[in-house]
Amino acid sequence: MNKKLLGSIAMILAGVGVYTYVRAQRNNHHSLVGETATSGHWTTEYMPDLTGKIIVVTGANSGIGFEAAKEFARKGAQTILACRNMDKAQAAFAQIQTEIPHASAEIMRLDLASLSSVHQFAAAFKTKYNRLNVLVNNAGLGGIPYSTTDDGFETQFGVNHLGHFALTGLLIDLLLKTPDARVVNVSSGGHRFGNMDFDNLMYEGGKGYSVMGAYGRSKLANLLFTYELQCRLEAVGANCIAVAAHPGASSTNLGSHLEKDGWHMRLLLSTMGALAQSAAMGALPTLRAAVDSDVRGGDYYGSGGLMEARGYPVKVQSNAASHNTTDQRRLWDISQELVKVRYL
Ligand SMILES: NC(=O)c1ccc[n+]([C@@H]2O[C@H](COP(=O)([O-])OP(=O)(O)OC[C@H]3O[C@@H](n4cnc5c(N)ncnc54)[C@H](OP(=O)(O)O)[C@@H]3O)[C@@H](O)[C@H]2O)c1
Repeated sequence: MNKKLLGSIAMILAGVGVYTYVRAQRNNHHSLVGETATSGHWTTEYMPDLTGKIIVVTGANSGIGFEAAKEFARKGAQTILACRNMDKAQAAFAQIQTEIPHASAEIMRLDLASLSSVHQFAAAFKTKYNRLNVLVNNAGLGGIPYSTTDDGFETQFGVNHLGHFALTGLLIDLLLKTPDARVVNVSSGGHRFGNMDFDNLMYEGGKGYSVMGAYGRSKLANLLFTYELQCRLEAVGANCIAVAAHPGASSTNLGSHLEKDGWHMRLLLSTMGALAQSAAMGALPTLRAAVDSDVRGGDYYGSGGLMEARGYPVKVQSNAASHNTTDQRRLWDISQELVKVRYL
């Protein structure tokens, strides 16, 4: 039996445990997102009116990003759907408008796999807006074979971390001059199986590459970036904060690439599919991180159920590796060098 198969079986067994627990809890949780605020769980009912706020959500055409963008728009925010595929973005936009006719949303093109696209997005955004209340760095991909972005970065690291690092830097001036602004980075419980090998950060030529290893590294990078950003914001006395979130195990398009990767991966995905919560539930930690007044810089919000796989959003803890301040600073310096955007 190979290591991948053993890993898959372990995850399935862990998943079955979660599933058993979830079934036992179901009678208490019959309505997920629509539960009333009096239940004690944080739901969209706790979101304040966002009229006049400007919020950018990357990867807003699908999954967590779509659900989050919809709720921001429902609360009156000017919501910018920053997406790479205009057809998908149009379809998502139409869906939001159908459900929320008063929605004030717009689409802007952003491909995080291209630094030139990131620059174009930031420039276009600045011609329209002179402030930014919340930047939600949500877009991501996982489980793809080794490949590189337009700029030669390993794709998962390039899109999930470096593209967002550059985007944040290019928009930081607006964030700094907007009262109580926030940057929300969407990480994952998968950060726990990532490691920062700074000698081979991007699996040069595919060396040592594994789909889950690269994903875990990119998601660990999201947290290292969040904590270092918060530290630098504090150092300059900024009013803006940096926060992280993760959506537990949610039913989205994220795993779509893994399906080609053998029968055990298909079994894993179908088991995880049975366990997964809705994307709307998975978006709650992001929404809470973006708007709840209790949130503080450097906080990390995730699903509050067993193994943080599902449930209402609560403050959670990331692993020790994400709090390694040497790695936080080192990743920041390397990211600046790679994307050639320097800030703070
Ligand atoms: N679902 C989960 O259980 C789970 C668990 C932990 C963490 N997360 C995190 O949640 C975030 C959202 O993922 P999801 O689950 O909602 O998956 P999803 O449904 O696949 O959505 C991902 C979004 O990212 C966009 N994207 C991918 N590459 C991009 C690029 N180069 N430039 C711009 N946008 C790009 C996708 O656009 P296209 O539609 O054009 O591909 C899509 O809009 C990710 O950061 C992911 O790591 C998800």
